[in-house]
Amino acid sequence: MSLSEQRQTPKAWGKIILAGEHAVVYGHTALAGAITRGLSCRAQPCTGGSRLLAPDWHLDVAQAEDHPVARAMRVMLEAADRSDIIFHVDGDLPAAAGLGSSAALCVAMARALVPGIDGERLVQLANLGEQCFHERPSGVDVALSSQGGFGVYQRASGLRQLPCAALPIVVGLSGQARRTAAMVSGVAERMKSSAQVREGIDELGRLAKDAETALIACEHEALGSVMNACQVQLERIGVSIAILDAMIAAARSAGALGAKLTGAGGGGAIIALAPGREEAVMKALADLGHQSFVTTVGARQ
Ligand code: MEV
Repeated sequence: MSLSEQRQTPKAWGKIILAGEHAVVYGHTALAGAITRGLSCRAQPCTGGSRLLAPDWHLDVAQAEDHPVARAMRVMLEAADRSDIIFHVDGDLPAAAGLGSSAALCVAMARALVPGIDGERLVQLANLGEQCFHERPSGVDVALSSQGGFGVYQRASGLRQLPCAALPIVVGLSGQARRTAAMVSGVAERMKSSAQVREGIDELGRLAKDAETALIACEHEALGSVMNACQVQLERIGVSIAILDAMIAAARSAGALGAKLTGAGGGGAIIALAPGREEAVMKALADLGHQSFVTTVGARQ
């Protein structure tokens, strides 16, 4: 085994979307940030077929299985011209919670497979894997997971990093897993018949630009208001659910300047911007029976 293959890869960050989820699928802008939680991976050559072990997620998947992780393994191994690898994945990023876990997994695997891989090659290889989880990902999750920081993302132009100071943010976990692919195709279906949903998508794209302006100016109250306005549109396009609505209301009552679902919705997580009130927000979420944590968004290390 070569030294580089024993090495744990640098962290592949998780992410949150501050504004523009779902709209980004249709070419609009999203404003997103990496969080300090993430994953790393080590590639160990083996015989008899590849597998992926992620004990924190209770995951042990063989390459031949009918499982999105196995499909990602197969396409990424083939693209990297590798075989017979055990991927050892470690980290503190919750799975299936809207925090970019599948993208972080693919970025960490790509780094383990091709030591030193970076830039566009890393994004391309990781996106091959990510497509096994979500049929038509916008690419925002992989971009943030590989580069960190804050960024404005558009399908056509990729990630433009923003030189903004990192922010503490509360992430509340609904405990309800959901499939991003199913949420994205649900929105696509509703867009066909509903002008309301189409307008909601356009409005989410526009709000992402307001969020960028507020973030750059460090105007947290304005950013919180934009997050609240995004949540109205996310409800309008049908991706919020009662549990998320209750968590968001509790976070706001506890002093959050802004709170919204993050990612695809239908479960997963909420985020709350509550400078100096993080503990109170976490307590309010705990009172509803939900786990939460404070993380730094815009993380670069
Ligand atoms: C990504 O975390 C959330 C969605 O915008 C899907 C995507 O961008 O691929 C809903």
